[in-house]
Amino acid sequence: MRAPPEAERRRMMYTWEELKQFVDHCGRCPLCRTRTHAVMGRGNLKAAVMFVAEAPGRQEDQQGIPFVGPAGHVFDQLLEAASMSREEIYITNIIKCNPPFNRDPSEEEKAACIDYLKYETLLIRPKIMVCLGRVAAQRIIRPDFRITREHGLWTERKSYQLTAVLHPSALLRDPSRIPEAKQDFLAIRRMADELADRPAPV
Ligand code: URA
Repeated sequence: MRAPPEAERRRMMYTWEELKQFVDHCGRCPLCRTRTHAVMGRGNLKAAVMFVAEAPGRQEDQQGIPFVGPAGHVFDQLLEAASMSREEIYITNIIKCNPPFNRDPSEEEKAACIDYLKYETLLIRPKIMVCLGRVAAQRIIRPDFRITREHGLWTERKSYQLTAVLHPSALLRDPSRIPEAKQDFLAIRRMADELADRPAPV
C-alpha cells in the first residue's frame, strides 16, 4: 500500500480500514518505537461532529482506542449532557501514538502525523470540527489560540464550523470548570441541529 502523502498528490481517497492499516503500521516518527498500539480515530463515519484531541494517553495506548481512560469518562459525560453519544460523533487525535510520560507532542511528531487527520476529515466530511484542548486548537485554529479565554467561540473554516472546548483532562484537574464545558457542548448540539438539513461538505 502507498503512503498517504503520495496519494494526496494523486487526490485518492481511503476507506477507514485502509487508513487504520496505515496508522497501525506507521513508522514516520520515533513514537512507533515506544507505542503499544497506534490509536486510529473512531466513531460514526458519517458524523456531523468530529472531535479532535491531542494524543492518546496511556490507557488508549494499551487498548488502541481513543478516550477510554479517565478523560474519556469525562468526555462521555459531556456528550451525554448535550444529548450526544459516541455512536453519532467521530473522535480522533492530532497524533496517533502516545508520547512517553504524556508530554505534549513535538512539532516533528505533529507534522509527521497530520496527513492522517487530513484523510480522516476527507472521509468523514464533518459539518462541525471541535478541538478538544489547547494542543488541538493551536494546531487547527491558530498557533496563539488561548483555550481558557477562547473556548466556545465559533469560526467558519472552508466548509465547516470550527470551535474549541476545554480538554477533559483539564476538567479532571479542575472540575469547577465542568459547567462551562457543558455550555460549550450544548452549543455544539445546537449548531449540529441548525446544520442538520444542510448537505455534508464536498
Ligand atoms: N487525551 C487525548 O488527548 N486523547 C485521547 O485519546 C485520550 C486522552
